[in-house]
Amino acid sequence: MGNRKLAIVSDHAGYSLKEKLKNYLLKEMHEEVKDFGCFSEEPVDYPDFAHPFANAISAGEYEMGISICGTGNGINMTANKHPGIRSALCWNEEISRLARAHNDANICALPGRFISEAEAYLIVKTFLNTSFDSGRHKIRIDKISLKMY
Ligand code: RB5
Repeated sequence: MGNRKLAIVSDHAGYSLKEKLKNYLLKEMHEEVKDFGCFSEEPVDYPDFAHPFANAISAGEYEMGISICGTGNGINMTANKHPGIRSALCWNEEISRLARAHNDANICALPGRFISEAEAYLIVKTFLNTSFDSGRHKIRIDKISLKMY
């Protein structure tokens, strides 16, 4: 792969992992990465950063996103408020693979305080290298939107 337009975001709890992942994506996976912050370990409120990030992916400006907060939950919940966003909390490689294969997830949300740097690389690499299986899974993801009900 490589040369895809990706977005990355974190709060203070995910800042250090974000910096490492950004470097990994640029240098090892040869992707383009837009950093939506935050930019230090100074405490911040994750929605202030997650909303602009998810909004840009929802608008089609970026193909996929990687988000990191302490548990992954807050940043994941925030992104999933945006239309067309399917943000999946990925804490191991298999969950990450299935988030793409079955859910066509477009954001990989990581629990920065609960995974190692090596685990994070593997999760992100798997997420970016797995295609959607479509078929029966397409029928299911099309029913996620509230417009269906
Ligand atoms: C920050 O302390 C922490 O609450 C945040 O990173 C995240 O885990 C929220 O869901």
